[in-house]
Amino acid sequence: MSRGATPDITVRPMREDDWPAVRQIYREGIATGQATFEVEAPDWNRFDSSRLAAHRLVAEAPGVGILGWAAVSAVSARPVYAGVLEHSVYVSEAARGRGIGSLLLRSLIAATEQDGIWTIQASVFPENEPSLRLHLAHGFRVVGRREKIARMAHGPEVGQWRDTVLIERRTQVL
Ligand SMILES: CC(C)(COP(=O)(O)OP(=O)(O)OC[C@H]1O[C@@H](n2cnc3c(N)ncnc32)[C@H](O)[C@@H]1OP(=O)(O)O)[C@@H](O)C(=O)NCCC(=O)NCCS
Repeated sequence: MSRGATPDITVRPMREDDWPAVRQIYREGIATGQATFEVEAPDWNRFDSSRLAAHRLVAEAPGVGILGWAAVSAVSARPVYAGVLEHSVYVSEAARGRGIGSLLLRSLIAATEQDGIWTIQASVFPENEPSLRLHLAHGFRVVGRREKIARMAHGPEVGQWRDTVLIERRTQVL
């Protein structure tokens, strides 16, 4: 458990019974049109099979519930890349801008470093300024911009080619 700048909010491992709240927050992120190419939040089975069981976190406020989550996937099945993960971080619409994304990311970085993970990465839309600023503030660097990497399949920009920015954080510990 860790406590952050926002009073009373704790970060703990995600449980299966958190899924309805986690999925709702995922949906709110998708609805921004700036979070992901995903069209719909997956069901629990797809989420569970695509994200590693370790390092699934939720931020929770007592009496309020879950306000955000973070999770990771493997980037490769090759053993040499076992320490390289891709992550997602989502905060509920009503709770953004209060330090919860920071709290989740700080917890994720600490937990993954402790577990021997050396790089975490993400692909972010260049227009997603909150996400880019959040990550740059936590030691991520921009690797490069991938031009017209895929077409949007939802939202007002449906059918449009979009760029992503590949960001990564290389631990200093290993
Ligand atoms: C990106 C996201 C996770 C940030 O979470 P958050 O709880 O709102 O972020 P925080 O309050 O912890 O802010 C952390 C930093 O992010 C930046 N930031 C947050 N909101 C911002 C905004 N609206 N505009 C510009 N920068 C912003 C700031 O640098 C901030 O640091 P500061 O407080 O020192 O200024 C949240 O906006 C979100 O869930 N968005 C929808 C889903 C998404 O896009 N996820 C990322 C996919 S790559």
